[in-house]
Amino acid sequence: MEISLKDQVAIITGSSSGIGAGIAQSMAEAGATVVINYPSENSLDKANTVLKEITDKGGKGIVYQCDVSQEDEVIKMFHEVVKQLGTVDILVNNAGIQKDAKFTEMTLDQWNAVIGVNLTGQFLCAREAIKEFLRRGINSSRSLACGKIIHISSVHEIIPWSGHANYASSKGAIRMLMQTLAQEYGADKIRVNSICPGAIQTNINKDAWQTPQELDSLLTLIPYNRIGQPQDIGNLAVFLASDVSDYITGASIFIDGGMTTFESFYTGG
Ligand code: BGC
Repeated sequence: MEISLKDQVAIITGSSSGIGAGIAQSMAEAGATVVINYPSENSLDKANTVLKEITDKGGKGIVYQCDVSQEDEVIKMFHEVVKQLGTVDILVNNAGIQKDAKFTEMTLDQWNAVIGVNLTGQFLCAREAIKEFLRRGINSSRSLACGKIIHISSVHEIIPWSGHANYASSKGAIRMLMQTLAQEYGADKIRVNSICPGAIQTNINKDAWQTPQELDSLLTLIPYNRIGQPQDIGNLAVFLASDVSDYITGASIFIDGGMTTFESFYTGG
């Protein structure tokens, strides 16, 4: 079976840069019309650059500004996308931020900001996506499923992360959100899965790879001995959104070069 997302509409939140941009590019190459969501005016140029790279290669898409932590903005985004593009077939809940702090110094603002984007944002977008999937029903000329949701989680869905309690908590909660939705909407043929990336080379973690020393130290956590690239995640996202993975739902798929084998136990334990 060919891996194709032809004629499907995919909203990828937070896709003006990083992992989201990689997913948007891969999905557009697979034939989807992509909605490149960006959070604020500051990211408009970056969103347009991602769109240009896509259209230069013959792909299709639009850019759309929306802060996913804001209910009214999310509702409006889905409404506008359906008006312009007809429906939504795929949601990639990718937008995510870090506001790191030692726990006793973590402010409520830092906590709320991370939970707001990483968890509440995924809730709001998933809710609006599922409403649209159910309204439309299955269109078998495009996909066997009624709709597909991919949550972008993290290895920190299961690996505790000192100094990042807000981030790790948001990712742990995404697992239960994802599995609950997969259970609740399985009979409606809506597939819901999570991708759990390890260290992918983007701006969010540049402190972990920007000098050779930092990169060496990061690689001690990765048996496969290379940092990941957004394209690695893009490939998996296309697979999970396509009919090739039609029997996969309720799964967290780790894509981390082996980080979750806990390499620090190679000689210890
Ligand atoms: C974080 C990165 C980190 C990686 C592995 C990701 O979820 O956003 O900052 O490098 O996990 O620890």
